[in-house]
Amino acid sequence: MPQVIALGDINLDIVAHMAYYPPRGGEGITSQCCLRLGGSAANTAFVLACCGMETAIIGRVGTDPLGQQLLADLRAGGVDVSLVQSDPDKTTGVVFVAVTPDGERTMFGSRGANVRLDFQGFPPIQWGRVHHFHLSGYALLEAPQREVALCAMDAACRSGLSVSLDAGVITLMQQNSLIRSLLPRIDLFLPSLDEAELLTGTRDAEMAVIKLREQGVKAIALKLGGKGCMVGVEEGNFSVPPFAVEVRDTTGAGDAFNAGLIAGRLKGLSWRAAALWGNALGALVAHAGINKEVIGREAVAAFLHQSRNQSTWMDWQCEFDTIIQLLKGGGHGGGMARTIG
Ligand code: RIB
Repeated sequence: MPQVIALGDINLDIVAHMAYYPPRGGEGITSQCCLRLGGSAANTAFVLACCGMETAIIGRVGTDPLGQQLLADLRAGGVDVSLVQSDPDKTTGVVFVAVTPDGERTMFGSRGANVRLDFQGFPPIQWGRVHHFHLSGYALLEAPQREVALCAMDAACRSGLSVSLDAGVITLMQQNSLIRSLLPRIDLFLPSLDEAELLTGTRDAEMAVIKLREQGVKAIALKLGGKGCMVGVEEGNFSVPPFAVEVRDTTGAGDAFNAGLIAGRLKGLSWRAAALWGNALGALVAHAGINKEVIGREAVAAFLHQSRNQSTWMDWQCEFDTIIQLLKGGGHGGGMARTIG
């Protein structure tokens, strides 16, 4: 059994870099266009595997060549795809991502086979042997995928796994009360500021974290993009500064942050060290994409080593040491925590 199971979308991302975003009815020219693995759950699963976690994904692709290619990409990244269904009647999810020079991404999604995830043909999952369940909120948008997601979350909670949720803006707009009802069962909630605002009505990060904890969430990592993140846990709230990188494309940066934080906690790191690892992965992905060479253990250790002498990180030396040591194969590697909190 894997240590982590992620559930949600597996997409082909068509990523187009554009000098400007065209007005409605206008035209945009792309300077660079690439096709790659995407989907919030697939991104997080891929990065978790790069962090050294045994990771499986529950999802659904088409039987088309795109779906087969994405499964091959996930396998090559070390993700177990034995829980991914293949749909003979629907095409694999495709998302068109327009990226402007500030790195901001605007997405147009066709969710295709993802939505048709169903209860048929699952091999039995021994939830009791898994450590953590990560749910991507897109999976809550439509049935039957939503029913499978809720059922998997129930099974995970009943079996004592820790559970994380990345809700997504569109899900919070369309399924706000469902998400609110889930919050008290979430061990780690991973919103952006836009998402937190849809639940709390404030864009003040500290206030949002306080209000979310009042809604029953055990731990919150509020993703603040170029401003780093704020973590709210029982011991208190703290901010983690951003890493200084040239931001080229923020697609998947939040998903990578999720993976670093989850992996860090499961590997026994403090909240500060785990959030620092998450921030580093988010920054590396915003700079160079979800690419094994960039986010693999050695590359991240080298990046941390280079960054640690910047004045921003004066109070974080102990956390840098812990992560670098972990990434190089020493310390914290043996024990797996059963919970995130
Ligand atoms: O979180 C980023 C992901 O959201 C993209 O990879 C895209 O596929 C969309 O699902």
